[in-house]
Amino acid sequence: MRKTTVICFANNKGGSGKSTTCSNVAYSMSALGRRVLVIDGDMQMNLTLSFFDEERALEYARSGKNLYTAIKEQKDLEDFIVPTGYEGLDIIPSSTLMSGIEFELFTKWQREWILKKSLEKVRASEKYDYILIDAPPTLGCWVMNIMCASDEMIVPVEASPWGLFGLANMFEFFDQVKSIAPDLSLMGIAITKVSERKNYFRQTKETLSGWEGVRLFEHYIRVDSAVEWAQDNSKPVMVYKKNSRAAGEYTELAKEIMQYADR
Ligand SMILES: Nc1ncnc2c1ncn2[C@@H]1O[C@H](COP(=O)(O)OP(=O)(O)O)[C@@H](O)[C@H]1O
Ligand SMILES: [Mg+2]
Repeated sequence: MRKTTVICFANNKGGSGKSTTCSNVAYSMSALGRRVLVIDGDMQMNLTLSFFDEERALEYARSGKNLYTAIKEQKDLEDFIVPTGYEGLDIIPSSTLMSGIEFELFTKWQREWILKKSLEKVRASEKYDYILIDAPPTLGCWVMNIMCASDEMIVPVEASPWGLFGLANMFEFFDQVKSIAPDLSLMGIAITKVSERKNYFRQTKETLSGWEGVRLFEHYIRVDSAVEWAQDNSKPVMVYKKNSRAAGEYTELAKEIMQYADR
């Protein structure tokens, strides 16, 4: 069995639930007794803001204790880890400067592998059971870095009329990355933001079920205002409202993900 599993959350469509799923699944895993590191790979800093208020998040951005600085200077990620305050859950914050990451990568030697190399020591330390990486809604060299550094990829898909639009591009991109990173696997698709009436849920599920070799997670996530309130308070939904429906759903999804990761 792998000592540490690196899992990225990717989808080139924005608003599909990457950051929300990544942060809440990570917290659930830590609450279930696992040691987890989350890495914020997006300049929007949504994952960072899921755990810290704006002032603190911007302080990490200013002080250089963030992923952008580590990648730009090709430093070991070990020195950029900060505690979230929750037991067993650490984070590497992002920075708004991440918007320039493609430019930084451009001149680097073996530019697809910078993140994997920076993560090597953390991984070898076996300090974490899971390392979860939140990707930005793009398909470029940086997302290639994120995929190349991962063992598994999870694609959150919003159950909405346009939720599936562009997903084929994403899988084409994934296949290309796999040609240089053959050990990368697609763990599955997580359907998110399912509305009360489940209109687009059925449609989304039906379409995706027809995609060969693509696993749909059994547990999906419904729309719940507790999620947004929790984010507004920089807290995981399980901490903000323990008995909310979303808290239960993210915990179930986390368990399912852990089952596949531990196989
Ligand atoms: N289960 C949910 N219930 C309610 N709102 C949600 C849920 N999941 C995500 N959202 C909201 O949808 C928006 C997009 O989610 P986010 O995780 O930021 O997507 P992405 O990271 O893919 O861009 C955010 O405003 C978030 O608060
Ligand atoms: Mg996001």
